[in-house]
Amino acid sequence: MDTEEAIGSLQRSGPYTFEWTKLHLPRWKTDPLRYEYDTLAAKALERLQAIAKERGFSDDPRKRPDLYQLLAENHARDDDLERFWTQLHAVPDWVDWEQLERGQRFFYRYAAANLMGFALQGFVGENSAASGVVEVLVRTGGFSTRVLLHRLLETFQWLLQVTESLQSIKPGGAGHISTVRIRLLHSSVRQRILKMVKSRPEYFDVETHGVPVNTLDSIHSIATFCCNHMWLQLPRMGVHPTEQEKEDYIALFRYLGYLLATPDEYFVTVDQARATMESMLVHELTVTDTSRVVCFNFIKCLVDLPPFNVSKEFIEAGSRVLNGDELCNQLEMGRPGWVSYACFRGHCWLVSALATAQRLSPTFDQWIIEHWKRLLHSAVIQSGLKGASKFDFKYVPQEGVQVEKEGNGRKGVNYGILSRPVETFYLGVFLFASILAFLACLMATIGLRAIAPYAVQCVSKLVGGR
Ligand code: HEM
Repeated sequence: MDTEEAIGSLQRSGPYTFEWTKLHLPRWKTDPLRYEYDTLAAKALERLQAIAKERGFSDDPRKRPDLYQLLAENHARDDDLERFWTQLHAVPDWVDWEQLERGQRFFYRYAAANLMGFALQGFVGENSAASGVVEVLVRTGGFSTRVLLHRLLETFQWLLQVTESLQSIKPGGAGHISTVRIRLLHSSVRQRILKMVKSRPEYFDVETHGVPVNTLDSIHSIATFCCNHMWLQLPRMGVHPTEQEKEDYIALFRYLGYLLATPDEYFVTVDQARATMESMLVHELTVTDTSRVVCFNFIKCLVDLPPFNVSKEFIEAGSRVLNGDELCNQLEMGRPGWVSYACFRGHCWLVSALATAQRLSPTFDQWIIEHWKRLLHSAVIQSGLKGASKFDFKYVPQEGVQVEKEGNGRKGVNYGILSRPVETFYLGVFLFASILAFLACLMATIGLRAIAPYAVQCVSKLVGGR
């Protein structure tokens, strides 16, 4: 049996160290949460499925029901649906809309750093090593490289919708509706896996991993979404969010967590949220063979993807900087050469310089926020997904179907100066900043040497004059 961490003990997760305090969550408190889940949505889903059946819908992709639509039309006629609808539309008294709006701006303010951190630390490091979560992911087939990109874009769609505007996350807004759809999707995944476990208990080890998409996994996911930027990602790129930014972004996800049936008490304050994130690092990260499959496919999905054609080595270098070598070795990631690290350093210096400039100029900050919002919405929702997804249950778990390591079907990128534009740009930033730093040192040395004799004369006059 695992022992509890001692208060005051020093803990480490990759390059990140911290002290275990009273705010951290002991195992006796978190372990039972593996067997708790969103019963309200589970009941509502059953009712919606019954209504759908009555109306001639089925599992056939062309005849699948829009569960949200059914919920909106029928909640007043059914107690379970009404309870679900009421919870979703009740706004908790701790919600401060102005604060949530500020939280939404945080995502776009540091978009380049947030996206890089989310991909390389949130997905590659944290998600791959969350052993219970990956067991669910490989069973839905959505982590196959053939469909993974689409799923990632859908995740980004959700993220963009819930950060778009206040209107979007208020009841009835596009982000609110998408969040309800995600909650129903999670319930469908859980229902399907548990149904299969009934006839074949070995299909999913409920005793070890808990119920699929359980309360603890959800707390972990919300922490990954909002806390990891603050302590595990941005600071390692030279960007240090302010206390206000931390409070605002965590408050936004406390509300989104509430909509997704994730207990909000773990995100009440910045200190509590940080302790929750750190507790997950200590308790929940274990690299398994399935982690290696998920990590491998995730990297394959991004490598050489047009138009940026990012290389495997760049992803590995960034992952190693953010997650540490120990975890990346366990995930069997390659060891890239110094050029890839230099490119990643170029990225870090750029986002750090931008963050400083944004703090100095609110007009520039506003411009960056608006620019990223427009760019991401058009790239992800309009171009990538060709219109907003409704998050229906596409990759239904089936017996014998489990994702393994896969290729990406791309030919690879021919060598050329512009074949990998992002890396070339970041390498340029690295070289430019290095030359600037060298010149600054040179000038400082020359300046010091030039003024040194006068400084010595001044000091000796002062001393002699006494
Ligand atoms: C509570 C925080 C969470 C958020 C904000 C969240 C968000 C999302 C989003 C946006 C999607 C749709 C896009 C996609 O298909 O990837 C999704 C789907 C999915 N999520 Fe989550 N998720 C959370 C927790 C979890 C947890 C804890 C698990 C599993 C242990 C999980 C498993 C899944 C699965 C399997 C799908 C895909 C279903 C399919 O194949 O269509 N999620 N989630």
